[in-house]
Amino acid sequence: MALSIIILAAGQGTRMKSNRPKVLHHLAGKPMLQHVVDTSRVLDPDQIIVVVGHKADLVKEVMSGQALTFIEQNQLLGTGHAVAQCLPILNSGNDVLVLTADVPLVTQTTIGLLLKDSTDVDVNVLSFMPANPFGYGRIVRNSNQTVCAIVEQKDASQFEQAIIESNSGIIFIAGSRVDQLIGLLDNNNAQSEYYLTDVIKHASTMGQRVNATICTDPNEVNGVNNQQQLSEVESHYRKRQVDKLMIEGVKLYDPTRIDIRGELTVGKDVVIDINCIFEGEVSLGDNVHIGANCIIRHTKIESNTNILPMTMIDESIIGHNANIGPFSRLRPGTECSDNIKIGNFVETKKALIGKGSKVSHLSYVGDATIGKNVNIGAGTITCNYDGANKFQTIIEDDVFIGSDTQLVAPVTIGQGATIGAGSTITRNTPEQQLTLSRSKQVSISSWKKPIKAEKG
Ligand code: UD1
Ligand code: CA
Repeated sequence: MALSIIILAAGQGTRMKSNRPKVLHHLAGKPMLQHVVDTSRVLDPDQIIVVVGHKADLVKEVMSGQALTFIEQNQLLGTGHAVAQCLPILNSGNDVLVLTADVPLVTQTTIGLLLKDSTDVDVNVLSFMPANPFGYGRIVRNSNQTVCAIVEQKDASQFEQAIIESNSGIIFIAGSRVDQLIGLLDNNNAQSEYYLTDVIKHASTMGQRVNATICTDPNEVNGVNNQQQLSEVESHYRKRQVDKLMIEGVKLYDPTRIDIRGELTVGKDVVIDINCIFEGEVSLGDNVHIGANCIIRHTKIESNTNILPMTMIDESIIGHNANIGPFSRLRPGTECSDNIKIGNFVETKKALIGKGSKVSHLSYVGDATIGKNVNIGAGTITCNYDGANKFQTIIEDDVFIGSDTQLVAPVTIGQGATIGAGSTITRNTPEQQLTLSRSKQVSISSWKKPIKAEKG
């Protein structure tokens, strides 16, 4: 049977105490809602409908361009009311899986189990055993252990409050029952809301087949209603990522002090020191070592490369056997060949750095193409900007640039040239020759040291 997924994302998230809608709060570098959309996508449903309400335009804008159908819930009258808004556009007869944007860590595997258990039932809920069930809807079972209702915290009797088994918020409804069960919902309860969870009670009363699939890892379905729960979910996400990395053979100096906000792929014998942040798609080849306190985003690093502490790398490509850092900043568009060195307090941007070249200390290299075996002396600056436009610096193979040189772009330094230290180079320089642009050194014998004036 074809599947439609409805993602509930209309709530304000009052308990976040934030101007930003709860579902847009970031978990591991992307909105919680995006996590749920990504998980939905791999289930390959017929349609993904996102119910938006609070700051709907903002949510739609953040989530735009992703083949999602948005439905606006203009009044936030409850989770059942949210699902009811989708009925007119549901592909008729489709089974419905309701996910909530504030339960971001549920895995494809767990939903797969829920769907497998749903083959012969009318309603199936994903339940779990939280360490502290307070706040969750409780799963009520009859004497045969069959699920017969979900009771919300605020409606629960003392007896019901003692039940541990809780509703994850994820509910499956068979296509043939959707209209009927959603149509029966009312708001006669402590919160005067249309509870989606009441579909269980109605299905059970009518003798329909109701089931609960228990999710064995409660961390997967913890809901996020406040910042404290968000941080718990974030640390669980981190644990999931680091466990996977360590299984893949990575040595982490401390698995609790690393953040992976995206996809980190690794080769063999990768070592990562503490407090590193990886964002977006990052790939590390065999034997790559990352020092402490590095931030690496959208970057590919080839094998045997060593990134020393305090280095930031963004949208760059680094070759094999490179040495980068400490305290280097590689900005977008930096592409380094093999065996290069970028040292402390060097900033690069849109820079191609050829094989074996070195920029060892205190330099800015931007909008530049550097050939092979070039040595850039300390304090060299490519002056790429005239206040209005950017220009290119080209440094050919085997060039030696003396320390404290300014290369005023556009400019080309010919192959094998040497530039004398302290030069300001404004015109192209010939191959193999020494070029320098500094005035002759003079010493003035009659010069007298200034003397501090006596205070009068
Ligand atoms: C809900 C469940 C509860 C479950 C818990 C799991 C109901 C009535 N209760 O409670 O049984 O244990 O989730 O985390 O379903 N939303 C809308 N429109 C609305 C109201 C909510 O789209 O009118 C969305 C919210 O944005 C959120 C989700 O539905 O993504 C759940 O709403 P929330 O208010 O957080 O419900 P809980 O009290 O957590
Ligand atoms: Ca919730």
